[in-house]
This record gives sequence, structure tokens and C-alpha cells, in this order.
Amino acid sequence: MRKGILTIAAVGLLTTGGLTACGDDSGDKAASAKTPKIGVILPDSKSSARWETADRRFLEEAFKAAGVQYDIQNAQNDKTAFQTIADQMITGGVTALMIVNLDSGTGKAVLDKAKSQGVATIDYDRLTLGGSAQYYVSFDNETVGKLQGEGLSKCLTEKGAKNPVVAYLNGSPTDNNATLFKAGYDSVLKPKFDAKEYVKGPEDAVPAWDNAQAATIFEQQLTKANGKIDGVLAANDGLGNAAISILKKNKLNGKVPVTGQDASTEGLQNILAGDQCMTVYKAVREEAKAASDLAIALAKGEKKDTGQTVKDGDRDVPSVLLTPKAITKETVKDVIADGYVTKEEVCTAAYAKFCAEAGIS
Ligand code: BGC
Repeated sequence: MRKGILTIAAVGLLTTGGLTACGDDSGDKAASAKTPKIGVILPDSKSSARWETADRRFLEEAFKAAGVQYDIQNAQNDKTAFQTIADQMITGGVTALMIVNLDSGTGKAVLDKAKSQGVATIDYDRLTLGGSAQYYVSFDNETVGKLQGEGLSKCLTEKGAKNPVVAYLNGSPTDNNATLFKAGYDSVLKPKFDAKEYVKGPEDAVPAWDNAQAATIFEQQLTKANGKIDGVLAANDGLGNAAISILKKNKLNGKVPVTGQDASTEGLQNILAGDQCMTVYKAVREEAKAASDLAIALAKGEKKDTGQTVKDGDRDVPSVLLTPKAITKETVKDVIADGYVTKEEVCTAAYAKFCAEAGIS
């Protein structure tokens, strides 16, 4: 991995109202006129519920609506399996491969191999550093982090916290998104640490976003801080729930605001119960649709202008970066209204009272 040498910056060059076809100037004639068959490799099913409950569902929805063949598989956090799946998909004749990498090294190997076989490539959600994907489709991930920092700060103010100690549970060190999320929340919180308004507490990255390990890590953080942690910047709902489970053990849940991301059923329930301060909703349906449109265009030998690029070292990667949204108790209903989760999933018996209070009818 060439981490360290590469600097990543999301550069919005143009804002266009969507994707525009600009003909076949890619030189990739090999892809022209192929019947689209799209392979997708999801990373795992434990670091976040989203991959199986949202991404698989919305990608299937987009591919079916477009009438294209597809094969969606999950590497279950196994880098060897990731490469084996990619090899099988390439041999099986996919015209486009969409990956959510487990790290940039193995991601790059897969992308380079696909490219050498004339298979179109898309980095889905996570950018592969030093990679060769033709497109990158994701959200504005620095903004995701910024929303988390702002959300935590708002909750701390509402609790009347004085010089609060803030702990960090960062995402996986091998996920470029985790780096971007942190850049976002640091941009909000670091000035407060520097101004001695807030106190920087323990900070750890959670390998592979492992939720179980996150609970152990947070328990150690709490011990290290002698029980004095006033706010937790957790990078996603799974890590947030891990922190909440330890706060519960210490009868501190609801008193210590915790952030999250993904608008998972569990995260939304934690928000409704008052144990989680906020989450970040990313409309995966739009992400899946944008990626599907690009994969189909590539199979036809077309090159679409996304109107935006992201820097990966010297390379400008054509990108689609969608807008994330902060969700609090008052707006949980918006996530349900958008069809991301259902009322039945969120408002189970134990949460019915909280749902009614939050105006979810
Ligand atoms: C995604 C998050 C997800 C995390 C763990 C990140 O790359 O953007 O939505 O929670 O991975 O799977």
C-alpha cells in the first residue's frame, strides 16, 4: 500500500444535474456492445448491517430495473476470498466489476487484473488508493465526519457539558473512508480541543470496523479515563452500539452522547431510546443507482461525465459523491419515509413508546 505518499482530496470541479454521456472516447473499444453483466463484491456483513440489508437490496433493485445480469457476492472480511471471487467473476464473463475493497493493496490487485482482462471497474463506496478504477461512487465522506462532529457538539451543549472529555472510536485504518470521516470530525472538534473548550480523551482505530472488538476497546478507554468520558465520536452505528453496550454496563447510557453513521435499525432504535445522539443517513438507493448506471454505460463502451473528480495521488478519478444527512430523534421518521428501513423494523414492542414520542405513526 502506498499510504502516506498519497493525499486524497475530494475536489468538486463542476456541479452538473446528473450524469451525462459523452460518447466513447475511452479507447476501451473492447467493452463496446457487450451485454452488460455486473459483478459486485461486498466487504463483509458484520462491520455494518448496510452491506446486506441496504446495498445488496438496492443494487439488485437497480440491476433488475435496468434488466441487466448481475452477480453480487460478499467476501466476509476475507482478503483471499475477495480475490478468489474476483477471479471467478472475471472468468465468468462480467463486463464490469464493482468492489468495496477490504484494503487498498488487495483492492488494487483485483482492479488491475480486471483492467488487464478488459473488464470495466468501479470503486463502490470506498476509494482504492493507488488503484485503477474507472469511476468512484460514494458519498461526500468528509462531510459525513463533519456532521458527526457537529452532531456530537450539539448534544454536548444540550447536556450542558462543561469541558467535556471526548473519546474517539475511529473506523478501520485500512479504509480510506475512515480517514475522510476523521478529517471531517477533526475539523469540527480539534479547534475546540485547541481552545480548551473540550478535552481530547482516548482515541483508537477499530481494526476492520470489528464491532465486538470495539466494545473491548471502549471498555479500556473508559478505564483509562477513570470513567470520565463525556462524549463518544463513534465512526458508525456498529461502533456506537458497542460503546453504548459498555455505557449501559456502567449506567452511563443516555448521559454520554454517542455518534454513529448508516441509519441502521439498531442505530435508529438507540437514538429513539435516547442512548445515541445522532446518526448519518446515506441514501444507498441513490448510490446503488449511480453505480449501476455507470457500470451499464461502461459495458456499452460509453464514457459518462460525472462532472466531479477525486484526487488519488496524481490521478483524478471521475467520481459521483452524494450528500449525506444528519439524523436525530426528530428526523428518524425521514429515514423511514425514504424507504430505507421500515416502521415495523424500527418500532418493535420495546421501541413502540419511543416511536410514538418521535411522531412515527
Ligand atoms: C462505509 C460505512 C460503513 C463502514 C463499515 C465504510 O467504508 O462508508 O458506511 O459503516 O465502511 O462497513
